[in-house]
Amino acid sequence: MVENIQVLDKRFKLYMPESVIQEEVKRIASEISHDYAGKDVILCPVLTGAYMFATDLTRYIAFDPDISFVRYTSYEGTQSTGVVKPLLPFTKRCQGRHVIIVEDIVDSGISMDYMIQELKKLEPASISVCTFFYKPGNFQKDFKIDYVGKEIPNDFIVGYGLDYNGKGRTFKDIYVIDE
Ligand code: IMP
Ligand code: MG
Repeated sequence: MVENIQVLDKRFKLYMPESVIQEEVKRIASEISHDYAGKDVILCPVLTGAYMFATDLTRYIAFDPDISFVRYTSYEGTQSTGVVKPLLPFTKRCQGRHVIIVEDIVDSGISMDYMIQELKKLEPASISVCTFFYKPGNFQKDFKIDYVGKEIPNDFIVGYGLDYNGKGRTFKDIYVIDE
């Protein structure tokens, strides 16, 4: 396991090793398996950050949900721009079904709030939010977060799908900025 990494112009140090991440993923998967047994479920992972989490999650979920990726962006560098752009929106497949939005991290909540409003227009049977990380100190919205891996302080992290300007996503451990 590497303790320190360099991503573009910034240094990062180890924050959460793969073993801990995987235990959290298994816990969330068993909660979802229990809550949605026998239901018509569609998982909507948010590209690009949630790709690794969503992949691991589906390995441990006890049923066989449909998968439909979406893509909405708001971030530049280490700051949210506050303006959400739909690049690959939800589709009509969500209508009348139980939709679980899968995110890498909920920070201000602006992106997720926007996605929930977009999804509501398609009249799904239910919407729930599943995120690996949650930064309550930055949260500005009031939607409910149904499944959380870990609450963290307002520090910038990379790895396990999370990026800094497009880099650092593919590490299987998570690293925090080292200032
Ligand atoms: P929000 O709209 O402020 O909640 O931002 C959510 C999005 O910002 C996430 O899907 C991530 O792509 C990105 N983001 C927020 N915090 C971090 C971080 O610490 N590292 C990498 N990306 C982050
Ligand atoms: Mg994201």
